[in-house]
Amino acid sequence: MDRKLLNWYDRHARTLPWRVSPQDGMNGVVPNPYHVWLSEVMLQQTTVATVGAYFQKFVHKWPRVEDLAASDTEEVMKAWAGLGYYSRARNLKACAEMVAADYGGKFPQTAAELQKLPGIGPYTAAAISAIAFGQAEPVVDGNIERVSTRYTANATPLPAVKEDCRAFMAQVTPQDRPGDFVQAMMDLGATICTPRNPACALCPISEGCAARAANAATDYPVKAPKKKKPTRVGAAYVLQRADGAIWLTKRPDSGLLGGMSVVPTTGWTSRQDGETSVSAAPIEEDWKNCGTVRHTFTHFHLELQIWFAAAATMTTLVPGTGWWSAADDIPGEALPTVMKKAISAAISDAFKERP
Ligand code: ADE
Repeated sequence: MDRKLLNWYDRHARTLPWRVSPQDGMNGVVPNPYHVWLSEVMLQQTTVATVGAYFQKFVHKWPRVEDLAASDTEEVMKAWAGLGYYSRARNLKACAEMVAADYGGKFPQTAAELQKLPGIGPYTAAAISAIAFGQAEPVVDGNIERVSTRYTANATPLPAVKEDCRAFMAQVTPQDRPGDFVQAMMDLGATICTPRNPACALCPISEGCAARAANAATDYPVKAPKKKKPTRVGAAYVLQRADGAIWLTKRPDSGLLGGMSVVPTTGWTSRQDGETSVSAAPIEEDWKNCGTVRHTFTHFHLELQIWFAAAATMTTLVPGTGWWSAADDIPGEALPTVMKKAISAAISDAFKERP
């Protein structure tokens, strides 16, 4: 099955900015471990489509791991803004520093060594060692889970079935071209063995597929019933000076949106409880309601009431708790997506390119 899949990959591999194409690989081009690591960290919770532009921006700004190590953490947070799961950005920086300082700028090659680095868990370690260093490590991501459980018609529910997927990958990953094999499994899952309408007729490994034989591909993987996400509510306050600057504060380094820039908000509570209004605003102003912004985090939906006020010219809020961000600087701030939505609700052109 590995040969069939690799033959398919030679013809149908997706072109991705961090990837060495099978043809280039055949001609002796080797993957750049820095690129592989950066892409795998970005892809941990984010789609290939979103990651592309961020990956390009990072390697343009910081061409080598040493450049990223020497960069300013705040610049990294700004470049990461919009990708979500912001602890990844802090770990990324810490990992780059460690590779630069302790490993002479060269990533270690084994999964065991890679796992000692910040932000590299078992999945990412296996993926980097396979893709960047050609080690036959079993890699299991969401796409590979789907392909594996279908191929073996394994009805054990997620997440328990992951261990079986790992065992399956350990068995089928070849010594020859393990990195391409892993990426072929990912591409098959992304383009053919898709969640809802798998194109089994086009699948290079349909012959050996147990789910296909039973005409039951979409029955796998079996998922444990999802808990419904709760909805939390809160209010956000966009305070703007006459020169266009807005007041920003910074979230604590740990926890949700850790280290990111935000406008002042109330706490996000599970009930409508009166805290979500102008009465909780950081300063007395003539607050105007700009409607509600919705955003979904991993564990809850958020409904954020947005309030806007024009600040008197000389307004200073509690010094040391935040800063006035000039109109031109706002698009470059480390603002998470929920805050871009909140600010845009109050100031429709806040993120427009200025000439
Ligand atoms: N998802 C995670 N890693 C990937 C990779 N290397 N190629 C394609 N999709 C991926």
